Amino acid sequence: PSAPALDLVIFGGAGDLSVRKLLPALYMAHLHKTLPDDTRIVALGRQAWDRAAFTAFIDAQVRGFIAAAEFDATAWAGFIQRLVYVGLDATRADDFAALAHTLRPGADRVFYLATAPTLFTTICAHLHGAGLVNPQSRVVLEKPLGHDLASARAINDEVARYFTEAQTFRIDHYLGKETVQNLMVLRFGNAIFEPLWRSPSIKSVQITVAESVGVGSRAGFYDGTGALRDMVQNHLLQLLCIVAMEPPVSLDPDAVRDEKLKVLRSLRPMGVADVARDTVRGQYTAGNVDGERAVGYLQEANVPAGSETETFVALRAHINNWRWANVPFFLRTGKRMAERRSEIVIEFAPLPYSLFPDTPRQPVNRLLIRLQPEEHVHLQMMAKQPGSGMKLRPVSLDLDLQSAMTGRRAEAYERLLIDVIKGRLTHFMRRDELEAAWAWAEPILAGWQALAEKPRPYAAGSWGPAASSALMAREDTSWSEET
Ligand code: BG6
Repeated sequence: PSAPALDLVIFGGAGDLSVRKLLPALYMAHLHKTLPDDTRIVALGRQAWDRAAFTAFIDAQVRGFIAAAEFDATAWAGFIQRLVYVGLDATRADDFAALAHTLRPGADRVFYLATAPTLFTTICAHLHGAGLVNPQSRVVLEKPLGHDLASARAINDEVARYFTEAQTFRIDHYLGKETVQNLMVLRFGNAIFEPLWRSPSIKSVQITVAESVGVGSRAGFYDGTGALRDMVQNHLLQLLCIVAMEPPVSLDPDAVRDEKLKVLRSLRPMGVADVARDTVRGQYTAGNVDGERAVGYLQEANVPAGSETETFVALRAHINNWRWANVPFFLRTGKRMAERRSEIVIEFAPLPYSLFPDTPRQPVNRLLIRLQPEEHVHLQMMAKQPGSGMKLRPVSLDLDLQSAMTGRRAEAYERLLIDVIKGRLTHFMRRDELEAAWAWAEPILAGWQALAEKPRPYAAGSWGPAASSALMAREDTSWSEET
């Protein structure tokens, strides 16, 4: 049977996310014929554009975010045919009545809320008020979903008045990344790792999401947010969940999300003393990144003088359960770091006893999973150095997934948009998951406030403040670039 007619409605349709990610992703899905035929995209924005002005905007702004090799003039024209623009002020009920005339009565509806979260509840109430929500409708909520636990709850409560949980898609685009989805396969599609995937076989886990970009033009948003809310509460905790969760009973959305929720609920709460000891906040100063001079955070456009917003976080987390007792999880993320690099390092326990005189006492086996920009898996092990005697040297079993497995790798947003269209919830956050993540993150913010320490400076292009290495050294380990 052919897919049902669908109107995909984007609030904030001419905004930054829509232009950079959503519309290019939809174009790619159109080009590669995964976007169902009878899907229209209704972009909403505050500008009073007619069709010509809107298509001119799309041509000028969106095309730049499509790789030259993927641009096809015929496909592009076909894609534009699917687009409709409607001027709308999200705070005005009348504008929603007008929107009702554009949506097709028999078509399914997806409402994608790519606006500030402060508008989420207003939008949902107006959609309901205008009679636009039906049982086939779905709503997509972009991050940041609230500013703290209370605001996240308030949004969830309001949205739940108009949409059931099964109709609600909370995006964390890391869950749409090919490499992140592959983590599940590495763990549960192979037999050799899982028996070792626990304490005491694992000594520590480190998760890094480093970016070389700075705050760019987003200071207006970022300065009130900071790295903990922007990255740790969502992307890094989701990665932690996938690394730490028990095997789910199936791949059904709730089976997977139940296991992730258990991890979040097992995270050891952080009091002020833990925050003081186990977290590092940083803010970048001027430096060199990718061979170019970069200004410090305080010199970026629209950053208020004397801002104490963190652009870097490193912390040590603990999971209070049988599998992970006494295994520290080190999380780290920052802007303007030495390079763009997301990776997970599993450090296995040291040898119980060494036969070889010069074997290091440090752990010798590490599994390094690089998520981006490359897609690599390295297993570090010891081997004998050729020659007489028994000298050992570290070597690495290397897997380059991009060359091992060719084929197009869709961007995270493309994959997630198709999931929304098909109604597949596995790679979206459930309400209780999101709230458990906030419940753990919030005391860290409160701890920082109580401690009233300024963020530690680090030079743009470095790996963060020295205290970040010290955090690892205390546990007799180190970040991957230091080993
Ligand atoms: C977003 C954050 O969620 O993720 C940004 O708001 C960050 O600050 C981005 O740059 C990183 O995503 P990616 O896919 O480039 O790793």
